[in-house]
Amino acid sequence: MSAPVSTVSDAIQAALATVNDPEIRRPITELGMVQSAERGEDGVVRVELLLTVAGCPLKDKLRSDITAAVAAVPGVSGVEITFGVMSPEQRQELQSKLRGGGATAEPVIPFAQPGSRTRVYAVASGKGGVGKSSVTVNLAAALASRGLSVGVVDADIYGHSVPRMLGADGAPTRVEDMIMPPQSHGVKVISIGMFTPGNAAVVWRGPMLHRALQQFLADVYWGDLDVLLLDLPPGTGDIAISVAQLLPNAEILVVTTPQAAAAEVAERAGAIALQTHQRVVGVIENMSWLEMPDGSRMEVFGSGGGAAVAESLTRTIGAQVPVLGQIPLDTRVREGGDAGQPIVLAQPDAPAAKALFQVADRLAVRRESLLGKPLGLKPAGR
Ligand SMILES: Nc1ncnc2c1ncn2[C@@H]1O[C@H](COP(=O)(O)OP(=O)(O)OP(=O)(O)O)[C@@H](O)[C@H]1O
Ligand SMILES: [Mg+2]
Repeated sequence: MSAPVSTVSDAIQAALATVNDPEIRRPITELGMVQSAERGEDGVVRVELLLTVAGCPLKDKLRSDITAAVAAVPGVSGVEITFGVMSPEQRQELQSKLRGGGATAEPVIPFAQPGSRTRVYAVASGKGGVGKSSVTVNLAAALASRGLSVGVVDADIYGHSVPRMLGADGAPTRVEDMIMPPQSHGVKVISIGMFTPGNAAVVWRGPMLHRALQQFLADVYWGDLDVLLLDLPPGTGDIAISVAQLLPNAEILVVTTPQAAAAEVAERAGAIALQTHQRVVGVIENMSWLEMPDGSRMEVFGSGGGAAVAESLTRTIGAQVPVLGQIPLDTRVREGGDAGQPIVLAQPDAPAAKALFQVADRLAVRRESLLGKPLGLKPAGR
């Protein structure tokens, strides 16, 4: 005796609901990808699946996941899958579903919404080459390894070294106007470098930068992130202002070296937070010392830069700005960056990795901890 038809088709629906789109990571049933699923007289279930784009590279994965899920339903003797492609209207619908609402005229930045629980950290420095990108990718990888959902925006339009440092060489895919970010070491990453063919030098004017950043934040499907890190270009340029406008709740992480000159410019970078009403979460001193074979520390770039920046910012801003950590010089930091294997993952016991983990753990707090705490935010320039 076979089971009643409705129960079997319910079970088939339930089985299909366990299959996630490998890219969007949500159930295919929720995404409107299952056009039909019928069980024939012969017990064979015929599934018609709509792909978001023709020639979707993850078709095989979908096929095997669906087959495995549906074949496990009692009363099913086989699974046949045919693939179609979503119509523009269906993709539009999917897109607004992913955005969590109807289609809107202005791109909506989920992290800037009042209810967002994503902590947003903008990693800034005054001077170039102090290790901003290295710190960003290592913090991201460390946070992801702690089980947090992490995204990185490489907002350094001219530098864009983040994807290489994370080993995220995949290209983003598109669903209509939505961009699916490549992932590496559990970190979702988007960089302007991914959109400029062949590393072409890009000359961007301020408004274009602003628009590009807005797109990164609004059109990329990030999902529910715990932490979003932005690797800012050095200095106090247009992008810092755009970040303040687009993400008024972003907190600034200042990176400096121990050197006095670097510290002075880092102070300036941090001090713009005063104008933009952003919180400075702390200072990271990078390249603090080099451990010598005899265990002594060589202060290659002098000492005291991190503490000096923190004290100075505490004075200007009128709120406590701590030194979150001191990261020693270690050739493995650079090697890890070159190889796309951040030191926190490749050499977690190295002193530099431990220092980075300590900083990461201080940052791994969700937004709700800020509830009830006046942030004094005024969106700048609106
Ligand atoms: N703690 C460290 N120990 C050894 N090398 C480091 C360390 N931090 C950074 N580096 C190396 O220093 C160089 C500059 O670092 P990075 O690119 O991260 O700096 P940045 O501030 O992002 O630079 P830019 O201003 O060009 O964007 C890189 O080669 C990197 O591998
Ligand atoms: Mg950089």
